[in-house]
This record gives sequence, structure tokens and C-alpha cells, in this order.
Amino acid sequence: MTSNLCAQAAEQAGLNQAALRHLADVAREVAELGGAELMRHYGRLSSIENKGRIGDLVTNADLAAEARVLEALRERTPEIAVLAEESGARGEQDGLRWCVDPLDGTTNFAHGYPFFATSIGLTWQQQPVLGAIAVPFLNETFWGAPGLGSFLNTSPMQVSSCNHLADALLVTGFAYDRHTRLDNNYAEFCWFTHRTRGVRRGGAAAVDLAFVAAGRLDGYWERGLAPWDLAAGVALVEIAGGQVSDYRGERFDIGSGRVLACAPGLHQAMVDELNQVEPLSGACFGAPGITAVGS
Ligand code: IPD
Ligand code: CA
Ligand code: CA
Repeated sequence: MTSNLCAQAAEQAGLNQAALRHLADVAREVAELGGAELMRHYGRLSSIENKGRIGDLVTNADLAAEARVLEALRERTPEIAVLAEESGARGEQDGLRWCVDPLDGTTNFAHGYPFFATSIGLTWQQQPVLGAIAVPFLNETFWGAPGLGSFLNTSPMQVSSCNHLADALLVTGFAYDRHTRLDNNYAEFCWFTHRTRGVRRGGAAAVDLAFVAAGRLDGYWERGLAPWDLAAGVALVEIAGGQVSDYRGERFDIGSGRVLACAPGLHQAMVDELNQVEPLSGACFGAPGITAVGS
């Protein structure tokens, strides 16, 4: 993804500066409404259920925040389609679409670990355009739009100027299918841990991306993600001056679930390193029966 793909998508969608400003304000307001709903439930959850895969949880907070967000989006932009994690798709998914993760970091939230967010991203024909990520425990909202810029609350933000992998602090995550695949990101985690100042595993993809956009972290890669994890954060990294692509340095594809998002000075080095990693044998993590499937 080159540095103006959000701007190109906005142009193709026919969004002028006034429309972008309006939609960025909607994203920010609605993300903050979702975040406020999350805080009402933080530390006092009444229900935690498993959605099927090991560790893939849904709580009453995910559902309450999603209901609040969808109600607010319906009031403000009834003409825009929605893809929301807990309730699915509404409307034409290839035009303008809000991608909603009401609670990114559900496992953290369920354990009282205060690293979670509400993420609201706008896509046009599957391309991220703009977004907002509210991290309510920190009272921080990361938001922006092409032409308008990217902000942490009211202050402009930008990606870091890091250009040496050895000086970088990276972040990544592990998808819920990690128990059943060899391509589970464990090998990449070891590889980068060995070549950088460190690799964090925050447990909330949207917050990881927001922190890259704000220059707190220098780079992020992950696989197995959904559009609601990616849309807002990818837009923010790009608008904040970062580079976003697939692992090979080619155009980012939101449907692939795979992303590399980092300071521009690290992009080529991260692509080069990612392409040298071989999956660990299942025996390395006590699952000798696992074989690689797909990507
Ligand atoms: C998860 C988090 C986590 C990432 C997973 C996501 P959820 O989202 O973003 O960091 O590693 O792949 O599914 O389930 O907490 O919304
Ligand atoms: Ca998520
Ligand atoms: Ca979620």
C-alpha cells in the first residue's frame, strides 16, 4: 500500500474534504460511545462465552458495545453499510462500509487487563479510507482521514522515524486458529525477537495498529485477522505516514487477513526478514500432529 491509497479510495468514493471531515467525526464519536459502553462493564462482566475456537470469547460487553455503536451509526449515516464482528453484514459490502469491532481485545477485557478498544473503520470497495480507535481505559482516541491528518485526541500524530530493525520495538499477535495451524506466527515472533529491541503481544490488533500510527511502536505484522480488526488501524497507519502492505511488500488486501504496517524506514527490512522465516515444526510447541494448511 503506497502512502496515498486511503486518499485514492476516498476520491474514488466521491468523498470531498467536507464529507471526509464529517465521516471522521462520526467514526470518532461512535468509537468513543463504544468505548464508554465498554467501561460500564469493565471489571463487572455478567457473561463470558466461547464462540467455538479455543479462546475466542464473546462477553456481554462485546454485545452491548456493538448494539450502542450500530444504533449510533444508523442514526448518523443510515446510508452506509456495516460489517460488525458480532452481528455480521448489513447492506452492500463493496461500497462505503463501516467495519466495526465493538471490543478488540476481548480476552484482555475478560481478564481485567486494560488493553482494549472500540474500532470503527470506513472502507470503499474493501480499501480502508479512514477510522477511529477509542482506547477508553487510557482516555485516548486515535483517529484521522486523508487530507485531514491523524490525531491522538486533539494532537497530530505520526509514525516513528525508526530505520534500523535493531533499534525497533515491534508488536504482533496470534490468531485463534493458532492451535490448528503450523503457520501460526510463532516462528516470526522468535525471528523478530532475535533481531530487534523486542516484540510485544498486546492482544488487541486495533490498539497495536493505533500505537504504530502514534509512533509508540515501530512496526506490526499479523495474520488471521478480520476486516473489523484492520480497517481503522490500517487507515491510521497510512495517514500517519506509515507503510502498509502484505508480507511480500505488495498491496494490502483486507480479505487476506495478513498485514505488515510499519514506519517507512523499516518496511523493506521487515519484508526481507518475513520472507526468510520457515514455520516451526509442531514438535517445537508440543503439537507434533499439526501440519501447514493454506495461508
Ligand atoms: C483479536 C485481537 C488479537 C488478535 C486476534 C484478534 P478480538 O480480536 O485483536 O490481538 O491477535 O487475531 O481476533 O477477538 O479481541 O476482537
Ligand atoms: Ca478484534
Ligand atoms: Ca472483537
